[in-house]
Order: sequence, then C-alpha cells, then structure tokens
Amino acid sequence: MLDRRQFIATSLGLSATAITGPSAAAAANTYDETVKSSRAPLQAVPRDRELVRFATLAANSHNTQPWIFSVRGNVIAIAPDFKRRCPAVDPDDHHLFVSLGCAAENLILAASTLGWHADAAVDGDRIVITLDEAPQDTSALAAAIPIRQCTRAAFDGRPAAPETLRRLEDACREPNVAAILMTERAAIAGVTDYVLEGNSAQMRDKAFMRELVSWIRFNEAEALATMDGLFSPASGNPSLPSWVARPLLKLFFTEGGENKKYREELDSSAGVVVLAADRSDKSHWIAVGRACQRFGLQATALGLKYSFINQPVEVAALRQQFGASLGLGERRPDIVMRFGTGPDLPGSLRRPPELVMQS
Ligand SMILES: Cc1cc2nc3c(=O)[nH]c(=O)nc-3n(C[C@H](O)[C@H](O)[C@H](O)COP(=O)(O)O)c2cc1C
Repeated sequence: MLDRRQFIATSLGLSATAITGPSAAAAANTYDETVKSSRAPLQAVPRDRELVRFATLAANSHNTQPWIFSVRGNVIAIAPDFKRRCPAVDPDDHHLFVSLGCAAENLILAASTLGWHADAAVDGDRIVITLDEAPQDTSALAAAIPIRQCTRAAFDGRPAAPETLRRLEDACREPNVAAILMTERAAIAGVTDYVLEGNSAQMRDKAFMRELVSWIRFNEAEALATMDGLFSPASGNPSLPSWVARPLLKLFFTEGGENKKYREELDSSAGVVVLAADRSDKSHWIAVGRACQRFGLQATALGLKYSFINQPVEVAALRQQFGASLGLGERRPDIVMRFGTGPDLPGSLRRPPELVMQS
C-alpha cells in the first residue's frame, strides 16, 4: 500500500526522494555516515547512477552543485542548473561552467575505470558525453575521486619535490588551457597581495557577503537538510547551532582576520597554480574545469592537499591586472589554487544522484 507521500510522488511521476528532498534522503544517517556513503567505492551497477555519483564528487563553486544529468542509452549529458547560480560572486556564470567541467572530468575518469571510453563534446550549455565499451583502465586519478577535498587550512610549509611538480603540471595539460605553476616565495608573495586585496573587496561587498553566508551550513543538521553548501567544519571552523553562529560571524569573520588567515595559508603552501584559457567562453571554462579537477585529483593521489584562492579572478577590477602581472596579457586568468602538505578536514556533502538526474 502506498503512503500519502509515495502516492503523490507516483501520481506526479516522481521518485519519493525527489518529492521529499535531501533532508528526507539523509534523515536516517549521521553527517559522517552520509559523507561516507556518498564517497563509497565505485560499483559497476547501476552504471549511470554510479557515474553520476562520482561526477558530483567534483569540486564546485560554493558547493552549489549547479548540474543536472540526463541519460539516453550510452550518452550522458551534463546541463547547468541555473537555479543554483551565484550572481554576486559569479555574475557571468564562469565558475558555474568551470564546475560542470570538473564534474565531466570525474565522470570520464570513473567511466574508464568501469570499462567505458568517454568522449566529451560541448553542445551549447551542455556537456555531452558518449560512452563506448573499452578495456577497463584504473588510474590513480580515478582512485582519488572519493578522497579529494578542498582543504582550507594552513599547510606545513614543506616544498614539493621536482617530480611532484612535474606530475602536477602534467595533470593540468588540456588543449587551449595554460597552467602557470609557481613555487618561488617572491612569486607566491605576489599572488598573496592580490588574494588579500580581493578578499578585502569581497568582504566589503554586501551582496557578496549575503550570498556567501546563504551557502554556509553552520552545523551537521543544516548541512544534512540541504546536502549542499559550505560546511563550516570543512573550512576548519567549529560546528555551532545557527542561532549562536550567525551573531558570532560578525565578530569573528572579519576582513583583518580573514586576510591574516589567507596570508598564513599561502605562506605555508608549497606552491600556487593559475589556470588561464586562450579564450573566455563556456567551452573554454569547461576545459579549465577539466584541468582544474585533474590537478586536484593528482595532488590528492600524491598525498598533497589543495584549495582554491580565487579572489584575484573573482573581483573584476583586479582580474586583468592580476593576469598582466603573470604575463597573460589580455587573457583572463580563470582559476587560482594553492597546494602543499596539510591536515584532513571533514568532507562536504553532495545531493544524491536521484536529485540531480532528470529522466
Ligand atoms: C570554479 C570553482 C571556484 C571555487 N572557488 C573557491 C574559492 O574561491 N575559495 C574556496 O575556498 N573554495 C573554492 N572552490 C572550492 C569549492 O568551495 C569546493 O569544491 C566545494 O565547497 C566542495 O568541497 P570539496 O571540493 O571539498 O568537495 C571553488 C571550486 C570551483 C570548482
């Protein structure tokens, strides 16, 4: 016998999960159990659900998870979910399309592990991935998908070995995308100045702050209710009831405090990488996403941590000057990341495949 919820769902042609939302999907589990199950080892079946699950483990701006997947036979399309765009930090949807590129890269790597060669093409706003049977190909990058995370913490200051740097640089190789890898302290200090200037500008921008705070999940219950957003402990902050955390934010989340934290994070990093595509359009932003995801996976596979420090490319007034300082001329710098050796922080949540797959 159907209960009322199942009855409504069935009448509307929806799954029960789709109508109840993420909180019901996660209700039975604790935060840690939910993270663990979303990051469980890849299974061969059900293939499409598994590939989508691994795709969604990709880095994505503010963890908004701005994607919709649809499957027709051996073709999987990834489309933008514009309801999840962030107009303040990302007015032209640059980060949104980079995030789709990150998801596509995960999906392609996971597919090859299961014995599918994946061919990706950009069609308007969508990434269309065609799967063809191929020998199984396990790679260190694919194995790193469920472990990778962005680590917003100070690192231990250890430099990276030349072989490590070579592998990180190789991971970023993507047609029409340049990677500038910096390890000299003077070059990193130059990037730090832009990060701090960008952070100050963003923290004085009310719309930016409103949007950022709307994506912060201050504790496990809040995060489980939406299965998205920026989980405070994943950024090294304590888990607090919302009524305590929100007033404290004004006291502790200050321009000076954040700038000090970013300086420490950059001073303790082994290096910084900037990605810049030859052109600035959706297909190039997607290409940047693929390179940036491979960078994160390669760093993870090598036992390193990484995080994004995108302030210099997010603040439009700084972007061109930042690019020029790196010799990019008119080219737009797309993504800035730092890397090094650092701690494990709690993982962030993802909405289950049922909520991001469209039939
Ligand atoms: C295009 C893009 C831009 C991002 N910008 C930032 C950033 O400026 N600062 C930051 O701390 N994280 C940034 N991130 C990282 C996301 O916040 C992170 O991937 C997301 O919260 C999910 O967490 P996870 O990668 O640890 O799974 C960015 C990610 C992407 C793909």
